[in-house]
Amino acid sequence: MQDTIINGDSLSEMPKLFPESIDLIFADPPYWMRTEGKLLRTEGTEFHGCNDSWDKFTSLEEYESFTLQWLSECKRLLKPSGSLWVIGSMQCVYTIGAIMQRLGYWLINDIIWHKTNPTPNFMGTRLNNSHETLIWVAKDKRSKFTFNYKTAKALNTDNPGKQMGSVWRFPVCAGNERLKDSEGRKIHTTQKPLKLLERVIAISSRIGDIVLDPFAGTMTTGVAAKKLGRKYIMIERDETYCACGAKRLEAVSFEDSDVARADFDVKPIRVTMPEMIAAGFFHVGEKFMLQDGRPCAELLPDGKLSYNGEILDIHTCAARAKGLRAKRVNGFDVWHVIRKGQLASIKSIRENYRTLAKFIEED
Ligand SMILES: C[S@@+](CC[C@H](N)C(=O)[O-])C[C@H]1O[C@@H](n2cnc3c(N)ncnc32)[C@H](O)[C@@H]1O
Repeated sequence: MQDTIINGDSLSEMPKLFPESIDLIFADPPYWMRTEGKLLRTEGTEFHGCNDSWDKFTSLEEYESFTLQWLSECKRLLKPSGSLWVIGSMQCVYTIGAIMQRLGYWLINDIIWHKTNPTPNFMGTRLNNSHETLIWVAKDKRSKFTFNYKTAKALNTDNPGKQMGSVWRFPVCAGNERLKDSEGRKIHTTQKPLKLLERVIAISSRIGDIVLDPFAGTMTTGVAAKKLGRKYIMIERDETYCACGAKRLEAVSFEDSDVARADFDVKPIRVTMPEMIAAGFFHVGEKFMLQDGRPCAELLPDGKLSYNGEILDIHTCAARAKGLRAKRVNGFDVWHVIRKGQLASIKSIRENYRTLAKFIEED
């Protein structure tokens, strides 16, 4: 079952799915906000926050029991390499986090979503709540979960070129992105920003993976998944939300990109010197040189180098030829050979060979 919207209750729909069939789960559950009465802005107009029937619980025990049920199902459904993200506010994250740990999930990160345009605290009775928390967990301690580290780095617009941190700055969903009815009212009180979901999916799943959202609302998760070339299963109890979400999903398609494919994280294929000699990319007896073009060493049939009467691998020989204290350095960063009358780094020649090898592999 893939690319599906299930209009039903997660507590009864999730048990129908196959065990260990899901790569990534994103859950934006009812927060149990405990909202009561009308909330007025300072100028007197009514603010429509989350006061929906689906967010009502009668006691902490009831909320705990509900949370335990859906989190247990998520655990059953996740592949061993899968991971789960849950977003929540102060009203629910502590309960959810405690239950996650009791169920044996392994904490990867908690992320602060710093809302750059938060709703003010109209009454001025406490600090303005300007963040939500995302808890990211693996199925268990041994899980080899997907983390596209270099993709995350590439997406770090706050601090370009640096490792992505655990505070993410995004505005709340507003403007054209916010789904509205014919009278201009919000269709859903808690629609999440698409950019947030795109980041989550891009860094913690692979193209073709199956993404499940058990509380899908307007299908923001599905839309992000589809744009990034993942499959989706969206469960939502409310028929209207399902209909709006279905329209949203129809309107988008896969947008191919290096982020979608996590190209930054694709490990290059391992190649050896003897393999490249056999393919004619290097020649036995040719001179290996430093960047200044001084001939230093000579290539042997087994891919090692003859240097001052010694036989050394290219990395040890590189450290020796450069007079470094380190025993070994990456020889591909050091050695050059002559190609078409000019110095060419052996790294660039290895890249040419990899391109050819990949082409042959795919053919
Ligand atoms: C916080 S909202 C999710 C919003 C969504 N992330 C979005 O961007 O539109 C939670 C959703 O869960 C749905 N819901 C609540 N309990 C449910 C249940 N037991 N099964 C399925 N859906 C449920 C609600 O109708 C609501 O749309």
